[in-house]
Amino acid sequence: MTRLHPIRLGMVGGAPGGFMGDVHRMAQRMTGRFMLAAGALSSDPQRAVTAGTMLGLPPDRSYADWRDMAAREAARPDGIQVVSIVTPNYLHLPVARAFMDHGITVICDKPLSADPAEAEAFARDIPDPDARFIVTYTYSGYAMVRHARHLVASGALGRIRMIQVEYPQDWMALPSSGNLGWRQDIRLGGAGGCLGDIGTHALHLAEFTSGLECRQVSALLTRIDENAAVPDSAQLLLRFADNATGGMWVSQVAAGCGNALCIRIYGEKAALGWQQEYPDQLSFTPLGKATQILERGSTDVSEPVFVPRGHPEGYVSAFARLYDDAANLLTNQPAPLLPRFSAGLRGMRFIEAALQSSRNNGQWHDIRVG
Ligand SMILES: NC(=O)c1ccc[n+]([C@@H]2O[C@H](COP(=O)([O-])OP(=O)(O)OC[C@H]3O[C@@H](n4cnc5c(N)ncnc54)[C@H](O)[C@@H]3O)[C@@H](O)[C@H]2O)c1
Repeated sequence: MTRLHPIRLGMVGGAPGGFMGDVHRMAQRMTGRFMLAAGALSSDPQRAVTAGTMLGLPPDRSYADWRDMAAREAARPDGIQVVSIVTPNYLHLPVARAFMDHGITVICDKPLSADPAEAEAFARDIPDPDARFIVTYTYSGYAMVRHARHLVASGALGRIRMIQVEYPQDWMALPSSGNLGWRQDIRLGGAGGCLGDIGTHALHLAEFTSGLECRQVSALLTRIDENAAVPDSAQLLLRFADNATGGMWVSQVAAGCGNALCIRIYGEKAALGWQQEYPDQLSFTPLGKATQILERGSTDVSEPVFVPRGHPEGYVSAFARLYDDAANLLTNQPAPLLPRFSAGLRGMRFIEAALQSSRNNGQWHDIRVG
């Protein structure tokens, strides 16, 4: 494995104080394979420069504007090799395009865009976007989620019959949540609301673990504030490939729920279950037998770990596993589990189908393919 020189990385968005910027930086550091070399970290030019200085960037690489950063980094012999995009959704693809035009690989947070049509246009315009565009679907970085995928692929569950995925949170119902900013603005965050914020994670988790593509949705989207621009909750019926069926419930106003993502997959021979708030365990129940609890770090789980068994891993470690895979991709090593542009595009097509279905009183809608 080539680890002699750290990979030179830039960031757009993610000034300290926002949510995801710090998570990306912690994950980058955990791998030991990246060096933060440049940034345009905030929408406020002065704050962007100050934040860069705080993070130790040299003044000439702490940019007030991401367009300027793309052009100037591309012109440097020691310019960045990859850029992480941690901005509100509407900026993901314009920023990605600017850097990819200069041959710089992109690590972009989800959802791909605020606008499904923009995502389709990007797919048409950019040749082979999967080769250079990574999407941080965090939950596919958990060791036990990867083991779940391995179990399904190995045939341990037999043919998959049903997939149930839930992603409830309550932070948008808290009085302290106040102004939800770009998330409540269709142009900036997208019309999908909770579907873009957490539904795309749930879809990717379901497809990643089961190995089955979701083909059709029937959706009911709701909001507790009837004046809100976007939905905060969704109940969906799903039809997957191979005649598997499923359900998805996502909500950002479910009282008492922190980040209670969970998935259950039922096959003809066995079932499995995983909960994000207890991420080191995976339940596996053969038909008619007792439930086994499989644990990260134990000898029957082959996924590599950051810390040994019994020392809990979590959200940042899952993110770091994605960054480790990204480093593999950037150094021409295999990274087969790393979500790419096409997984992000599926998320946008899922949002579009769910919005159409909900407008049509829950009528089934196909998720676009091709
Ligand atoms: N993968 C995950 O688990 C996960 C979790 C939460 C959010 N997200 C995604 O991460 C992204 C950021 O979400 P967040 O919660 O951190 O938002 P946030 O509002 O906390 O942070 C957004 C950051 O982008 C910066 N920004 C805005 N416009 C900019 C511009 N023109 N140039 C440079 N910087 C600009 C802001 O200054 C801020 O620092 C969103 O796309 C969101 O969907 C992903």
